[in-house]
Amino acid sequence: MDIHDFKGRAVFVAGGSSGINLGIAKAFAARGAHVAIASRSPERVAGAVAELRGLAAADARIEGYSADVRDAEAIAAALAQAHAAIGDFDVLVSGAAGNFVAPALGMSAKGFRTVIDIDLNGTFHVLRGAHAFLRKPGASVISISAPQAYNPTMYQAHVCAAKAGVDMLTRVLAMEWGPEGIRVNSIVPGPIGDTEGVRRLAPTPEALARMAASVPLGRMGTTAEIADMALFLSSRHAQFVTGAVIPVDGGSSLAGGRDLGAALAH
Ligand code: NAP
Ligand code: COA
Repeated sequence: MDIHDFKGRAVFVAGGSSGINLGIAKAFAARGAHVAIASRSPERVAGAVAELRGLAAADARIEGYSADVRDAEAIAAALAQAHAAIGDFDVLVSGAAGNFVAPALGMSAKGFRTVIDIDLNGTFHVLRGAHAFLRKPGASVISISAPQAYNPTMYQAHVCAAKAGVDMLTRVLAMEWGPEGIRVNSIVPGPIGDTEGVRRLAPTPEALARMAASVPLGRMGTTAEIADMALFLSSRHAQFVTGAVIPVDGGSSLAGGRDLGAALAH
């Protein structure tokens, strides 16, 4: 598959009704793919499907399902319906997630479990449930991780634990499914402008400005820049890439690096 041509290919995006995941769904739809998305809210799914249809080829199928990734049976049913509609999945994206900012002592067991259930268990349900429907060989499986997977982040104990687990699933399933010709990778977005994730972590203009300034490239990313990596990973240009956890973050993952510039002055 050329990076610009996904005509007739089948793409399923879990959590695809908004933000980064919808941006990925849009990129594939605009390049000719059949696209199915799933998330909880029927209204959000319907809105996203309408948006995707506006971009898609006239003969492309665009499908939407209301399902909660925490419910393994519900997401398995959505995957099966999508498979009946668009055929073997060439691309599977698992991006549903939940977040809130709270110290560990401010989280109930249910609060912690809720994020583990959506991000980590949900990713397992999506990947495990989709395996039967993936193109073999050839499928590209992508989980959407987060910098919390490797940057210990205060008030994010649930997300740090969940996304670290997501990246381990990427590595283990890349090994288990490699012999079938299925590649499994994680994309780690940096702060992406105009998304719910950033609204929760940087709720004021001052916090937003600080977040953008902390990125070595000096700005927030865009959903299209994350979609570009999903297109690359699913193209013929990435056929030997699997088990990789790939930051697309303007250099944010270098935050623990050291600047010895002060020593130069002496
Ligand atoms: P978002 O717009 O809130 O996207 C989350 C999506 O997941 C929504 O479509 C939501 O739709 C769906 N969802 C949530 N809970 C679900 C559940 N239990 N079952 C099924 N679907 C569910 O947030 P975003 O900021 O674009 O984040 C998207 C992904 O990027 C997440 O994996 C996040 O961790 C990752 N990420 C984001 C950033 C950032 O800068 N925004 C940075 C790093 C990583 P419903 O409400 O309809 O379910
Ligand atoms: N601080 C502490 N605990 C919190 C909290 C906060 N700010 N927000 C929610 N919780 C707790 C709730 O109190 C509840 O636990 P309790 O019943 O013991 O009090 C638990 O989390 C579940 O909350 P609930 O609202 O019932 O869950 P939900 O399944 O309806 O929603 C969330 C899940 C909380 C993650 C919700 O924010 C969501 O749906 N997020 C999706 C969008 C999103 O987060 N996008 C950004 C992706 S990076």
